[in-house]
Amino acid sequence: MKYGHFDDTAREYVITQPDTPLPWINYLGCEAYFGLISNTAGGYSFYKDARLRRLTRYRYNNAPYDMGGRYIYLRDNADGNFWSPSWMPVRSDLDEYTCRHGMGYTIIRSVYDQIEAETCYFVPMEESLEIWELTLTNQRDTSADISVFSAVEFCLWDANDDATNFQRNFSTGQMELVDEVIYHKTEYRERRDHFAYFACSEKLDGFETQREAFLGPYRGWDDPAAVEAGESSNSMAHGWQPIGSHHIKVQLRPKEQKKIIFLLGYHENPKNDKFDPADSQTINKKTVKPIIAKYLQPKNVKAAFATLRDYWSGLLGKLQVVTPDEHTNRMVNIWNAYQCMITFNMSRSASYYESGIGRGMGYRDSNQDLLGFVHMIPERARERILDLAATQLKNGGAFHQYQPLTKRGNNDVGSGFNDDPAWLVLAVAAYVKEAGDWSILDEAVQYENEAGTETPLYEHLQRSMQYTLDRLGPNHLPLIGRADWNDCLNLNCFSDTPGQSFQTTTNKDGKVAESVFIAGLFILAAKEIVQIAGHRNDRAEAAKQQAAAQLMEATVWKAGWDGAWFRRAFDDFGHVLGSKENEEGKIFIEPQGMCIMAGLGVEDRRAQMALDSVAKFLATPHGIVLQQPAFSKYYLHLGEISSYPPGYKENAGVFCHTNPWIMIAETKIGRGDQAFDYYTRINPSKREEISDLHKCEPYVYAQMIAGWDAPTYGEAKNSWLSGTAALNYVAITQAILGLQPTYDGLEIKPVIPEGWSGFEAVRIFRGVRYEISVKRAGTGNQICLEVDGKSIPGTVIPLPTKDTGTLNIKATIGLEK
Ligand code: BGC
Ligand code: NOJ
Repeated sequence: MKYGHFDDTAREYVITQPDTPLPWINYLGCEAYFGLISNTAGGYSFYKDARLRRLTRYRYNNAPYDMGGRYIYLRDNADGNFWSPSWMPVRSDLDEYTCRHGMGYTIIRSVYDQIEAETCYFVPMEESLEIWELTLTNQRDTSADISVFSAVEFCLWDANDDATNFQRNFSTGQMELVDEVIYHKTEYRERRDHFAYFACSEKLDGFETQREAFLGPYRGWDDPAAVEAGESSNSMAHGWQPIGSHHIKVQLRPKEQKKIIFLLGYHENPKNDKFDPADSQTINKKTVKPIIAKYLQPKNVKAAFATLRDYWSGLLGKLQVVTPDEHTNRMVNIWNAYQCMITFNMSRSASYYESGIGRGMGYRDSNQDLLGFVHMIPERARERILDLAATQLKNGGAFHQYQPLTKRGNNDVGSGFNDDPAWLVLAVAAYVKEAGDWSILDEAVQYENEAGTETPLYEHLQRSMQYTLDRLGPNHLPLIGRADWNDCLNLNCFSDTPGQSFQTTTNKDGKVAESVFIAGLFILAAKEIVQIAGHRNDRAEAAKQQAAAQLMEATVWKAGWDGAWFRRAFDDFGHVLGSKENEEGKIFIEPQGMCIMAGLGVEDRRAQMALDSVAKFLATPHGIVLQQPAFSKYYLHLGEISSYPPGYKENAGVFCHTNPWIMIAETKIGRGDQAFDYYTRINPSKREEISDLHKCEPYVYAQMIAGWDAPTYGEAKNSWLSGTAALNYVAITQAILGLQPTYDGLEIKPVIPEGWSGFEAVRIFRGVRYEISVKRAGTGNQICLEVDGKSIPGTVIPLPTKDTGTLNIKATIGLEK
């Protein structure tokens, strides 16, 4: 069953019934001011950091699930009937409803009792504010007397403190109201130099800033007393719960249309110019007023919306494809790329499953997210790499997370996830390949954000590699530390106390448990450094990394190969995991993907054996599960992985992030049909038709689909913020379609299904437009390339001369029949 449809021309997903199985959300904002918005206008906003600069309040895990947001209420003053044009929170039976989630905007339109309301929510580029443009149309043949109420609930900035520290917070709230603008200025009187504002284009017939006055005692958002009465009491919040609500009375003649603009914004003042007059406690509004005035003008709103649309056309235009599969086209051209931008911006901080409080920017996460984003805005990827590297520890290790506002390592989560360092190498490699910007390697970057510790980024990479080499275990495989990519494989944790974090509890010295996955990752990263060092004429380094990779490979074959697949790890007792010797957890997906991506076994059929084992033991119609057999009970020595009931999350769920590794591995051994089949199984657009089972949004990947051991097999959870986005993008565009940036030029090496006659693509690479046409001439993956009509040897198109605008590429694949 479906709850809407794709509109690929408009680049929108159109939801046609409001009661989707879960809130289906979108994100507003591309740079610094962000919002989450659901299909019923739920959600919240923040500036840069979902934890430290939260503008509006949102209560997670609420009942109903999605309550609190950017609400508008309409009231027919003739009969007192009121409703929410976004369905929630009043939940009246709307006569028509659509929610169009687009690139950085959401438009919710409904008709109720012949009053049409359409609200377009978006954040203008380069601004720290969001616009809600409401268009009201009276479809009746008679006049309508309508009251419009807006409503947001302010968060007292630090979302964690806001949700816990009531003894203080109920006494700190402060507001101002000037010229129809509601200002939220809690703590502005002391150390904050920022405030929020909520403005309206119309003269107000009233307002509320105190929640209790708006809702009325003992009432909820579904029937606010002010809306019911059709009157606002002009409340000023002193403490308790500051909100913003405007009340506007609108007379609409038959068929008349009216636009009302609301602005919700964040603003900072210079520290020494916070107040006006200077000796008062009143916000200095001189700097914000022009911004407010600008966006209360419909023509400026229109222009800002057009700019946003152009911005996305530009970004998505970096790669567009036409393949025989509409689900591939839609994901590559629109939604997967869009999700890559969102994960780049959010990491794992704020979604409807990540509270914005618990997790900042993950080190491994952000490095991986970059892989799917780097072609869109390489300059921002560069900045991100330098931020990440500046949190790196001197020993090459990494803080597992950092806060986006401060850009400093988050000590609560600490470090010691032994895979973290290597991901930086892969991110830098991806950036250099995309941008051809070798200068980044010479950038002086701090360690642990400490002045005076700077070394060139190149040395950061070397230290990352050395981190692994300094931590080898009894089998000479890398020690796993707190965990590797699999945050739940906690082999040194041994926690028997409820409530302890599996990721930060350590009861073992960590000198025994090893990871085959990190070994594969190390080899992959080492191969990149070999190339990077080669380009820099650093022969010694290239030789060193080459030797290290070879040695690690030999170690994997010795200790990490189980006969028909790669093993997963050795535990603290030195026992193997991910082996036929195990009763549960015999085979894991991660080392199959990572080791084969690193090239292991590709030449000698062992990769094929491992992938055949994946197909046999792990692949399901809903995707490839993480391991089998699932852990049926909690194992003290394995940690969080065995804490989940079988079939969920890391305990044998389809952990979607790992599936593209297998797709890429399949292309390494030339099996395009198999790779594409796996791609299709978890493609959200393809799964749209089973939305009632899948439950999450059909336009973005979810982190997990319940595996076959789970009673809810096939049901997805944790949509949006997952490495699944970037890795699937890489798998389909670079491995299957084979459009691969390399240090020396764009490589064209498709490994597509046998049944495809070919595909077309336009790729903007290093400023040049590559118009690519791929035609299948026969079976197999052999490639013949022509550039502007001339055939060239190999698969890499040499970098064109400086002033080249467009290159015409013809690729013929397969042997002529
Ligand atoms: C989840 C992991 C996640 C980790 C973050 C665990 O509970 O299962 O997927 O990476 O928390 O700390
Ligand atoms: C989600 C985390 O964000 C990611 O870093 C981790 O690799 C996976 N879970 C697997 O545990």
